[in-house]
Amino acid sequence: MNNKRAKFGSRFGVIAAVGGSVVGLGNIWRFPYLCGENGGAAFLIVYIAISFMIAIPIMLSEFAIGRSSRSNPMHAYSSLSKKRSWGLAGLLGIATSIVILSFYSVIAGWALEFLRESIADNFGGSSPEAIKSNLNTFINSGWRPLVWTLVFVIATGAVVLGGVEKGIERINKILMPLLFLILIGLVINSTTLSGFSDGVSFLFSPDFSKINGTVILKALGQAFFSLSLGMGSMIIYGSYIKRQERTMKLAATVSVTDVTVAVLSGLAIFPAVFSFGINPTSGPELIFLTLPNVFQQIPGGYFVSIIFFFLVFIAAITSSVSMMEVLTSYISEEMKIKRWVSTLMSVSLIFILGSLCALSQMDNSPLTIGGKSLFDVFDNFSATIMLPLGGLLSVIFCGWVMDKMVYKNELTNHGSYGLKLYPVIRFIVKFIAPVVISLLFMSLLGFI
Ligand code: PHE
Repeated sequence: MNNKRAKFGSRFGVIAAVGGSVVGLGNIWRFPYLCGENGGAAFLIVYIAISFMIAIPIMLSEFAIGRSSRSNPMHAYSSLSKKRSWGLAGLLGIATSIVILSFYSVIAGWALEFLRESIADNFGGSSPEAIKSNLNTFINSGWRPLVWTLVFVIATGAVVLGGVEKGIERINKILMPLLFLILIGLVINSTTLSGFSDGVSFLFSPDFSKINGTVILKALGQAFFSLSLGMGSMIIYGSYIKRQERTMKLAATVSVTDVTVAVLSGLAIFPAVFSFGINPTSGPELIFLTLPNVFQQIPGGYFVSIIFFFLVFIAAITSSVSMMEVLTSYISEEMKIKRWVSTLMSVSLIFILGSLCALSQMDNSPLTIGGKSLFDVFDNFSATIMLPLGGLLSVIFCGWVMDKMVYKNELTNHGSYGLKLYPVIRFIVKFIAPVVISLLFMSLLGFI
């Protein structure tokens, strides 16, 4: 089985596929809304620090687990440790992928609805209030979000069936650079808005008194979410990476890209938030309430809006594919089921759960847990608890369970190049990351 495993074609192919997984709704939708809710700059600083100091070593560890075992996460953990119980870490990732994909598909569906409305020129001339009530009507229609969720889940399934090389690489190569350019254009436009200085100071002048255990845990969760860590996606992608590829360079490149895209989104959103009198703590609706106002006032905004929401859809699908890969490869490899059947099973399951998430957002929906909508619970629980837990298991595994030489060989490509940072990475993986994540969990549970 191992030798037949597909590999990424070109060097750019790996960056494009991993970058496609990493850059997604996490950067464009989730980062701005969490940053808005958790104190702006204070949140940004903690998020950036965690992304570089803790998340990169975790990403390297996931690559190492995947590449050395060349198999799906569950099999990777159990075969490298020779203990079946470690397979549970892989199972956790599968559960996480189900939870994330469910609410992720709903928001990707919103992007499709906004694409449709942009094409129909529905936003032209609308006030911020009208845009808000339009979104409200959409959510409360019940069925309209479900249709788009279904479209998105089926599209994801289709790419997964297309296979690694053909499906993922091709679309990423062309469209991700385009998304980057559009974001830069929006940032340039931000400088002309009346709320520019308020937006910039919200994002860059930190009020350190706002940092507390919850903010740190949310930033940690966001770093994991945005870098696709703690779930097994990077283990799967690691299993497709060629032996001679330098994973350190890859991890550094995608992390820098990821943080840059998040900051650019923040710069595109917050000046507009303050210009149009939108509340930065609007939650998951934030970018959808904000951007249509921006598109209205820029020249050629009609087209920019169409291209933007189309690219958000593409960014979302290249990420959702990496999540569905976790699920389908598990079902097909472990349960020995044909790939198309396992894809169909994944698509159906995600559509059912995604529908529940979408319906839970309606006013007075009974689909709540502890007063929060199922959507919010899925979003919060997966990123703040499940991903950090998955990440914790992966560093404990690499630091304490996996053969030290196998790990070192993975990071240095069997010593073919000197990795000066190796001792630092090893130290973070063995001690710092496990301690930091455990402390945060303890504070969440009220122990400290
Ligand atoms: N990183 C993706 C994003 O930012 C989401 C994701 C999370 C993908 C976990 C895979 C695994 O949108």
